[in-house]
Amino acid sequence: MSLCLFLTLTVPLQAITNGVANEPDSVYLFSYSHADGSGGLKLAWSPNGNRWFSVAEGSSFVNSDFGPWGQMKRMLKPHLMQTRADDRWHCIWELTESGNSLAYVESPDLLQWKAQKYFDRSRLAEYRPAEVYPNVRKEVLLNGTVQQGWMQRVPYATVQRVISFAEHKKYRQALHAERTEQDPVRFAGLKPVEATIEVETECAKPISKHLIGIFFEDINYAADGGLYAELVQNRDFEYSSKDGSHQGWDGTYAWAVKEGNTSAAVTIAAADPIHPNNPHYAVLEARPGVTLQNDGFDGISLKKGEKYDFSLFARVAPGSKGGKVVVCLLDQTGREIARSSVNVSSKEWKKQQTVLTANADVRAAVLSLQPQTVGTLHLDMISLFPQNTFKGHKNGLRADLAQTLADLHPRFVRFPGGCVAHGDGIDNIYDWKGSIGPLEARKPLRNLWGYHQTRGLGYFEYFRFCEDIGAEPLPVLAAGVPCQNSGTHTHYADNCPQGANKELMRYGQQGGIPMEEMPAYIQDVLDLIEYANGDARRTVWGRKRAEAGHPKPFNLKYIGIGNEDMITEVFEERFAMIYKAVREKHPEITVVGTVGPFYEGTDYAEGWRLATELGVPMVDEHYYVDPGWMIHNQDYYDRYDRTKSKVYLGEYAAHLPGRPNNIETALAEALYLTSVERNADVVEMTSYAPLLAKEGHTQWNPDLIYFNNTEVKPTVGYYTQQMYGQNAGTQYITSHVTLNNGQEAVRKRVGVSVVKDEATGDHIVKLVNLLPVEVSSTVKLKGIDLQNPSAVKTLLTGDPKDKQARSVTSAFVDIGGTEFPYTLPAYSFTVIRIHENKGK
Ligand code: AHR
Repeated sequence: MSLCLFLTLTVPLQAITNGVANEPDSVYLFSYSHADGSGGLKLAWSPNGNRWFSVAEGSSFVNSDFGPWGQMKRMLKPHLMQTRADDRWHCIWELTESGNSLAYVESPDLLQWKAQKYFDRSRLAEYRPAEVYPNVRKEVLLNGTVQQGWMQRVPYATVQRVISFAEHKKYRQALHAERTEQDPVRFAGLKPVEATIEVETECAKPISKHLIGIFFEDINYAADGGLYAELVQNRDFEYSSKDGSHQGWDGTYAWAVKEGNTSAAVTIAAADPIHPNNPHYAVLEARPGVTLQNDGFDGISLKKGEKYDFSLFARVAPGSKGGKVVVCLLDQTGREIARSSVNVSSKEWKKQQTVLTANADVRAAVLSLQPQTVGTLHLDMISLFPQNTFKGHKNGLRADLAQTLADLHPRFVRFPGGCVAHGDGIDNIYDWKGSIGPLEARKPLRNLWGYHQTRGLGYFEYFRFCEDIGAEPLPVLAAGVPCQNSGTHTHYADNCPQGANKELMRYGQQGGIPMEEMPAYIQDVLDLIEYANGDARRTVWGRKRAEAGHPKPFNLKYIGIGNEDMITEVFEERFAMIYKAVREKHPEITVVGTVGPFYEGTDYAEGWRLATELGVPMVDEHYYVDPGWMIHNQDYYDRYDRTKSKVYLGEYAAHLPGRPNNIETALAEALYLTSVERNADVVEMTSYAPLLAKEGHTQWNPDLIYFNNTEVKPTVGYYTQQMYGQNAGTQYITSHVTLNNGQEAVRKRVGVSVVKDEATGDHIVKLVNLLPVEVSSTVKLKGIDLQNPSAVKTLLTGDPKDKQARSVTSAFVDIGGTEFPYTLPAYSFTVIRIHENKGK
């Protein structure tokens, strides 16, 4: 089409001008993407179809969300169109080079976009919009590069709107990028600030009892090799090359057969295993001098004088004789740290056990099995547990790590993920039933973070841990869809009906659980509630809980359905089915829905729309953000409609470049939490993420607690969580801060929250100062009747870059009555807990 002909294209809408006399009524809008499909939909405009200007420097207005990162998420040959009837925008693009798999998305204004739909080319007619304004395919020269795309004429106001949106976005990004390292310039010449803090007791309101909790996900080796106290790695010989990104993993991983100085791989067999869920075992050609050795997880750490429970399942091969097997723990030099033995003589699988006592502290010991007779032995589930687990449970948790979690005083525990819960493809969805029952019958599972889950730490152990620490369990189950970023070849894709589009089945949510399998999946969800709460004798799943040693119900009250899923038709259909089934059968259970992985955008908007339509009681929000976002969005929840779903802020953290966990991030979180506590009538629960990370095996930073085999290393952010967890309230008392400095940048960096804990009668004042100067304050608790008060102060402070700072608790002696002075140190978070000593 020639340019002249094109200039006659119809202009949509009445031209809108912004009052500047010489602006055009209409211009050309060009839409395109990079030829390789990366980077999403971009826009450019032109006054004459000849000279082109990028909109927002080529930033994208909508991105493809199909399939895994890296190889997918591509937008090839996007075609943007606008319907005459309603001026809505519609974009159709190809997802892969095959051209068979397409996507469709619509928008009222090019700024907000509805959920994307993915479909086979044979259905194109269903998605192609009718009656669109004329548009033509075009090649344009943009900033020196030729781009191919589509062009149409639009009111200039349309271009102005997208430009101002992009500029506003840039402005917000600049605010969010504010860092303390710029403080010497931002606050040059700033004098210490004076503040008066006053409360309005008549505005007290009840707030959530469950505000601070924890989110346990098996990421960063948080479970096996971490919280789960098992010391033997690959005890079940089920490691596999499919487990993840590790080269050469198989059933022999972490094991070796040694004879003198020679080392050989272990032989693995699968005939007649202990249980079909645990199909592999080791075959040891035993003779004196041969040993079977396990390295543990970075070695086995032992403490002098402590006892360790050793066990294995064993049988002698047909035609072979068994005998004694010495079990030793050796240090790196081969010195014996503990010794015992078991007898292997049964022809059938039989559990043998013994106890070993360490005679020295060792950081990285090995387990060594030393047969004393000649014969072929089959060995499986070779296990070593410290007797000193958290609360002394068998198959228990590592005591120091579990205690560090308990010290946060979390009111709930979300588990088992995160991405681990919805999984990498349907086959990888975390099936809770595979994680309970006898250990030798549990189903190991590939961990999508690139390793192996034995699931020795399974649903029973999660529930038990919650009970141990007085926290509500909050299990999260997939909403019938795997992670939208999945890229696994599922058997569903490989076995889909002839002629069906395998690409669509293979990637992401589009491979949701097939509808004919959804009733069984929903039954699994209902069975979980029965497992947790059902009668120990009269219900099938309650009986299984009792068999595991817990006849009393676990008193489950919450269940999460979905994890930051992409809100597509595939999701909505399945979520609604599960939600309705749970609501009908168990109205006593609070279902927690999901609203995507960000604090805004399509999944957030669509997730909230769905939750509102269905009346879902609570939704799970996630956002990992700059500290600046937390400073500049303290009113985020003040605007929330109290009549809609409650909020569970299930994953959040302040992220700086390089991802440290330091005073800057911890104080940003503390500051933001003052605003969350103010809104704890709508925000019911919060949990920082991720929780645990094993040094040397970390896929994600920052985390709340780092650890190795011998040490637990809480981060600075841990202390923020602890100060909130240990000082939670049940009533929020409105407070006002008046500063002698009117700058917005100063005001936004001082945060206060006053709460009352009705159980103890204590009043708690939380004070955050993210300024580089002190804030000398007068705290006026007028209206609060404090009889004979005493107080303790917990302070977390340091240089913004400090990663080692710890909170310090001391008596707060300045508490005379309802009015007292307190100077907030520069860069600090203080909690003052006031106790009344009535009648003393
Ligand atoms: O917390 C780590 C991951 O972040 C979670 O698995 C997932 O839900 C989120 O994307």
